Amino acid sequence: MTIATPAWSLTENASLRHLNTFHVDAHAPRMLRVADPAALPEALAAVADADLLVLGSGSNVLLAADPEDVVLVFENREISALEHRADHTIVRAGAAVIWHELVMWSLNEGLSGLENLALIPGTVGAAPIQNIGAYGVQVGEFIQTVEAWDRQQQCWVRLDQDACQFAYRDSLFKHEADRYLITAVEFRLPLLHELQLDYAGIREELQAMGIELPVSADVANAVIAIRRRKLPDPDVLGNAGSFFKNPILPLEQVDVLLQHYPELPVFPGNGDSNRKVSAAWMIEKAGFKGQRDGDAGVSPNHALVLVNHGNAGGAELLAFARRVSAAVLEKFGVPIEPEPRLVGARW
Ligand code: FAD
Ligand code: EPU
Repeated sequence: MTIATPAWSLTENASLRHLNTFHVDAHAPRMLRVADPAALPEALAAVADADLLVLGSGSNVLLAADPEDVVLVFENREISALEHRADHTIVRAGAAVIWHELVMWSLNEGLSGLENLALIPGTVGAAPIQNIGAYGVQVGEFIQTVEAWDRQQQCWVRLDQDACQFAYRDSLFKHEADRYLITAVEFRLPLLHELQLDYAGIREELQAMGIELPVSADVANAVIAIRRRKLPDPDVLGNAGSFFKNPILPLEQVDVLLQHYPELPVFPGNGDSNRKVSAAWMIEKAGFKGQRDGDAGVSPNHALVLVNHGNAGGAELLAFARRVSAAVLEKFGVPIEPEPRLVGARW
């Protein structure tokens, strides 16, 4: 059965191999594509109370099994400047806009803020879900409003920055999974702001590029160069970026770890009483960097990146990830948790 209207379409038995960056060969019983979000309530009515999974680019999901029923994909890709003020511009982007394209668009418009977040895969609609972050910046700092359809209350909502409860790889949307279908995000982007150059590697990269007084576009280029060197390209080697979050631990536990492992990289946590520690370092020391079992493995370039060397299934990748986390727990006494959403499995 296929239903096609100008605003949305519904098809059966859709392959998801190109809709997840692990390239797991999964299928959706039904696929709902929505080009015009205004028609979302009507499109949802056509699938009644079906189990629903929203996918953007699938760069932060592990499909351990086929989704139960409907996979919803947005196709609205407009970017527009809503308001120009003396020191900032409000920018609105549709859920299906590719994140990196928004970053480049904003830099071309002379706007700042998103430069450290260049080249993160995925869509604008997914960016608030885990509050994407890189090189000392998190997207929540620049989000003014998230527009969504609230499936629980059956109404449109506009959530401001506080309501989104942004934290490290966390937000309201993770706690109320699948309640909010995000259709657009509005950003408040400054014309000028203090560049964030403190994350290890950025100043060195700028120096190597011969840039002494960087502007936002230079920082974006530096971040792009570092990322291309460090992270495997999902088009070449299936992966979902960092597979584990960096654990946030109480200060006392970090002190004990540092007594045993003085080289453990430690970063600020969310306050004075805790610190974030490097999961990549612990995985490498547990001996898993570059290891593989069949087609499931850990990248030889970055220990935090679980990779699919070819035809690993989602369950196989998950089993390998469990071995990695068990080894880290045994060696360091630290539990590590997956960052991507697990579909069809619990951690
Ligand atoms: P998907 O993977 O499709 O979905 C992710 C989650 O969001 C799912 O729960 C999904 O249901 C939900 N979702 C998606 N769209 C919507 C919507 N419109 N409404 C409601 N829910 C929705 N992340 C970082 O934070 N920092 C990084 O530096 C980073 N680097 C990466 C590097 C690589 C090589 C890869 C492959 C991934 C990286 N990631 C990083 C993870 C990923 O890019 C982000 O999490 C991104 O936001 C996921 O976008 P997506 O469109 O692919 O979302
Ligand atoms: N490290 C190792 N071994 C490795 C890789 C890294 O010991 O194989 C050590 C490095 O020496 C460094 C530390 O780990 O001291 C941190 O490495 P890196 O700068 O690469 O950052 P990360 O903690 O591994 C985080 C994010 C990334 C983000 C980068 C840059 C998480 C879970 N991951 O990675 O986000 O791009 O910082 O800000 O917070 C993602 O979320 O998918 C992602 C890629």
